[in-house]
Amino acid sequence: MCTKFIILYFNNCCIHGFNYVVKQKLMFFERVLWFSLVAVSIYFCFIVCFSSVDRYLTKSTHIGVEKNYLFWNTAVPSLTVCPSDRLDITLFDDYCRQKDIEGSEKEAFWDFIENLANSTYMNFQNIPGDDEVDKVIKKLGLKPKHYMELIYNLTFDGTFEASERLRIRCYDGPTKIQVRQVLTEWGLCYLGSSDLGQEYSSRYLIFGEYPKYNKYQQSPEILKYMVGGFFDDNVQYTLLGFTSSAVFSFVHSAFDVMKVDTGSEYAKEGIFYDVFSEEIISEENLKTETTIAMRKCRFHHESNLTHFPFYTKNICLQECRINLAYERCKCIPHFYPNLIAKPKPVCDYKTLRSCFPRYSNLFLKLYDKDDQLKKPFPCYCEQNCYDASVTTKATNSLSGSKNLLGSIGGHVQVKSWPQRRLKRQVIFSMTDLLVSIGGTAGFFLGFSFLGLVEFVYFFTLRLFWQILGYTI
Ligand SMILES: *[C@@H]1O[C@H](CO)[C@@H](O)[C@H](O)[C@H]1NC(C)=O
Ligand SMILES: *[C@@H]1O[C@H](CO)[C@@H](O)[C@H](O)[C@H]1NC(C)=O
Ligand SMILES: *[C@@H]1O[C@H](CO)[C@@H](O)[C@H](O)[C@H]1NC(C)=O
Repeated sequence: MCTKFIILYFNNCCIHGFNYVVKQKLMFFERVLWFSLVAVSIYFCFIVCFSSVDRYLTKSTHIGVEKNYLFWNTAVPSLTVCPSDRLDITLFDDYCRQKDIEGSEKEAFWDFIENLANSTYMNFQNIPGDDEVDKVIKKLGLKPKHYMELIYNLTFDGTFEASERLRIRCYDGPTKIQVRQVLTEWGLCYLGSSDLGQEYSSRYLIFGEYPKYNKYQQSPEILKYMVGGFFDDNVQYTLLGFTSSAVFSFVHSAFDVMKVDTGSEYAKEGIFYDVFSEEIISEENLKTETTIAMRKCRFHHESNLTHFPFYTKNICLQECRINLAYERCKCIPHFYPNLIAKPKPVCDYKTLRSCFPRYSNLFLKLYDKDDQLKKPFPCYCEQNCYDASVTTKATNSLSGSKNLLGSIGGHVQVKSWPQRRLKRQVIFSMTDLLVSIGGTAGFFLGFSFLGLVEFVYFFTLRLFWQILGYTI
């Protein structure tokens, strides 16, 4: 009965060749021939279909070049500036008055907390500390996990300064650009002209709250970041308002954060950058039509990081550093966000001094050829779907600007614009996959969508009738 039904299907179905296999009148040899032909066709049909599926899953996007440069704008790179003097003396005095810290204790504590605020992988060994500092820390009950909070409390956010002349501000002539305080691997710094959302700010990363309302940053004509195109010959901005003795500045893509291990410029007066930036962008349908594994890049909101609520490649590298530091020193430095379900222990200053300097090269580069301890640390970070590669053509220190402008900072200028940009595109979409599989099945077997429906129909409804005794 069952074989009879299958024979019935073979006789009727749309796949060519099947009916010859079961035709009674043909010689046995002919039937074997047809059977092997059908088997070979099915085999190759599957091979080709699987290669289409593989192409869809792994090679469906590519990076193309766009050359119609007259029609697009390029984002001017961001500037992150870290002042070398961190804390505000007035806030510190108030704090000490409240907590009853005086005299030499106060001096020692200032020295300690100021250096802690200015610490990063290069200079952990400079954090001072002695019995006096220990005494103050004990008196205050200051735990390592509150280091960053205290530093934040004792830092004055210069973007809130009432006097325009001393405010940390980012502008080009009458045009104003957003600037904010951010938490970096070098403590609290200031970032101007960036595409990143408000999640990348000191307050959000330390406390999980959006930045306080800043009336100097609110008017609608303030730009998020500066752009320029082929017809603008010279686009520039200045990030100014630092009263510290020197600044460290980093110029980087407007779609990413600074990297503490490369490209910092030290300046006592201010620094001038001449940069060139080439972008890589994404076609609109990339986000909806592909998965992360298919396109091998991530958008900002597609974070799978533990410590950070958004994704960029450099943030991902920071997370690798967190994990590496945790593996080697069993705790993490205070300047990382730690608002997670199971916070990692934060290092006290003694561990920072004793454990970190030894590995500073390894932590900075995430790789060290002299590191015999273990195999390379696993760190895989996807590219940003939107990014820019920034080349610094020249840097100059601006001498005399402090007297002229009352404060120091940095100046970024773009004089020449790229004549091409890269674009991530979908070249093999879901529709292409369907067409490809359908075409393959049609080519090898004469099979089609309706054939598939017929197959399902035959083995459900028709089988049901057959079992009940109705035959057609
Ligand atoms: C902050 O750290 C940098 C790098 O080690 C150092 O050059 C600078 O002098 C420090 N700032 C202060 C105020 O000590
Ligand atoms: C920082 O300031 C906030 C609000 O004023 C306060 O609640 C918090 O305890 C302070 N943190 C430290 C470590 O002093
Ligand atoms: C994030 O995803 C990448 C691959 O897409 C993976 O290698 C990495 O381990 C993931 N990170 C976390 C923290 O899950």
